[in-house]
Amino acid sequence: MKILLTGVTGQLGRALIPLLETRGELVRASRSDLDLSRPGDIAARLDALAPDLIVNPAAWTAVDAAEDEVAEAMAANAEAPAVMAHWAGSNDRALVHFSTDYVFDGRKGSAYVETDATGPLNVYGRSKLEGERAVLDSGARHIVLRSSWIYAPRGANFVLTMLRLAREGRSLNIVSDQVGSPTSAASLARATVAAIDRELPSRETPGGNLYHCVDRGAVSWFEFARRIFEGAVELGLLENMPEVVETDSEGFPQKALRPEYSPLDNTLFEQASGHVMPTLDASLKACLKDILEHERNT
Ligand SMILES: NC(=O)c1ccc[n+]([C@@H]2O[C@H](COP(=O)([O-])OP(=O)(O)OC[C@H]3O[C@@H](n4cnc5c(N)ncnc54)[C@H](OP(=O)(O)O)[C@@H]3O)[C@@H](O)[C@H]2O)c1
Repeated sequence: MKILLTGVTGQLGRALIPLLETRGELVRASRSDLDLSRPGDIAARLDALAPDLIVNPAAWTAVDAAEDEVAEAMAANAEAPAVMAHWAGSNDRALVHFSTDYVFDGRKGSAYVETDATGPLNVYGRSKLEGERAVLDSGARHIVLRSSWIYAPRGANFVLTMLRLAREGRSLNIVSDQVGSPTSAASLARATVAAIDRELPSRETPGGNLYHCVDRGAVSWFEFARRIFEGAVELGLLENMPEVVETDSEGFPQKALRPEYSPLDNTLFEQASGHVMPTLDASLKACLKDILEHERNT
């Protein structure tokens, strides 16, 4: 099987590389190989690369910048996946695509299931919703995994930002009125491959599925920061717990509105794939250990 992986410099793309390498001939496409901001060029690139399976973690992920760069976010997150899905459908190939908890407005008050009504609050969420709809409606064999608050030992993410700020001795104001399901790229990558193994080899069943796929648990950013610092002190990544001040979204204004409560319910994914997601504490600990090992080796 020839597998085309996009977003290979990103958190999830990096975590997927070693796993997908064991599943077939892996073609790693960076931005210069396949530019999502130029959807008009994508079908020709796919004709040339001729993958059996496209795995597409590449996306415009700068949530606040998307408010100003609407066309760019829409091109990468809505138009590009639509072209990929159309190409896959027309050529009997499969597509794995990723979406986000930010397709929801966060007002439900309990964990979201796949059939809940969407209602994005920001441009990023709207662009990802358009992208997932295009894949779901394409007729291509597909899996769409909605995940949330992704972090990894490398990249731009909350865990690394918290560690850096704590080491700089900064006093930290962290919001406690946004709750979600932090998910490690490593555990999402393992889950992705479990879903591929279970669902995509069969050409018998057309269409595909949308799943929520996150580490188990729900915390506010404030509580997540506390657990990061606790784990980091325990491992020796930090000497002391930093001072953390609890604030709310009004006290920490951001350009894009975020949902207040957007944990995702994993039940459907776990039943369908037979893959049990780890707890967010287990994933966080594994990530902190990776960071420690990386720092010791550099
Ligand atoms: N990060 C989160 O908290 C989060 C939460 C929920 C869902 N998701 C979704 O999960 C998926 C993976 O996210 P992630 O955290 O791994 O993202 P990430 O670390 O920000 O990586 C994004 C990747 O997309 C690539 N990319 C961006 N624009 C591109 C373009 N125009 N053409 C080609 N490649 C482009 C980037 O390449 P460059 O290095 O060249 O920029 C990078 O490799 C995405 O679909 C995202 O929407 C993310």
